[in-house]
Amino acid sequence: MRIWAISNQKGGVGKTTTVASLAGGLTAQGETVLVVDLDPHGSLTSYFGLATESVSHGVYDLFHDAMERNQPDPLRHIQRTDVEGLDILPATMALATIERQAASFEGLGLVIRQALRHLSGHYDTVLIDSPPMLGVLMINALAACDRLIIPVMADFLALKGLERMLRTLEMIRHSRGQSHPYLIVPTLYDRRPRVSREILEILSQRYGDHLWSGVIPLDTKIREASQAHLPIAIYRPSSRAAMAYGTLLNFLLEQEADKTPEVLSA
Ligand SMILES: Nc1ncnc2c1ncn2[C@@H]1O[C@H](COP(=O)(O)OP(=O)(O)O)[C@@H](O)[C@H]1O
Ligand SMILES: [Mg+2]
Repeated sequence: MRIWAISNQKGGVGKTTTVASLAGGLTAQGETVLVVDLDPHGSLTSYFGLATESVSHGVYDLFHDAMERNQPDPLRHIQRTDVEGLDILPATMALATIERQAASFEGLGLVIRQALRHLSGHYDTVLIDSPPMLGVLMINALAACDRLIIPVMADFLALKGLERMLRTLEMIRHSRGQSHPYLIVPTLYDRRPRVSREILEILSQRYGDHLWSGVIPLDTKIREASQAHLPIAIYRPSSRAAMAYGTLLNFLLEQEADKTPEVLSA
């Protein structure tokens, strides 16, 4: 069971969209996928048509069980989606309280990692959506994954955000004592402004092989797909964004098959 987290300490960069899109691509290939919504805003949960206010079980329960020292039982909290092969551990309203509770309750950083161990064999892939702020939920996403995908938008602010993100990663790497393969993915890419190309060049100079060589283009079909509660690969497989996400997915799967340590970790 592979576990990928999609994270960046910045909102609106396409994290949730990337989770939904990769999940759609994987299920289209016949895989079983679990998506985990670690953002209290619950965008991923609503993407798949569930309302955070009315969902009764979800990620929060895993934290609750950990605090009560109960044996984690993630299968109880998982919900089906309308997409064949795709399940979700949704965000509920209560998830917003975790950051505060974590201040007085130690050891909540590995809750998701430990819970997912109980699911090994149930899914081919787990994709974790992360909130945009560094806190215990993001730490859980980073600690649970065996690979990290960092969506970035091609603007100068994004470069700063990315540096912050990579410092966080370094910190976690240190405490885990193992390296974390990561891939930077340019998202919401607008080819027209010259600055877009300039940013891509800077990213390439700074991050080399960690930068995916493609881009996810701006595409209005993405918003339509989320309104239809469907991954883009299912909603409009021929759209530019669906093709780009398909290429990204194939790249990730090939890279995994190659297992080139120099590329995967640094
Ligand atoms: N490639 C794209 N083209 C057009 N709109 C996009 C694209 N990717 C994401 N969006 C839209 O941008 C907004 C932010 O994306 P989202 O995935 O929610 O970002 P994050 O999870 O990082 O906050 C959403 O409204 C989403 O529909
Ligand atoms: Mg999001």
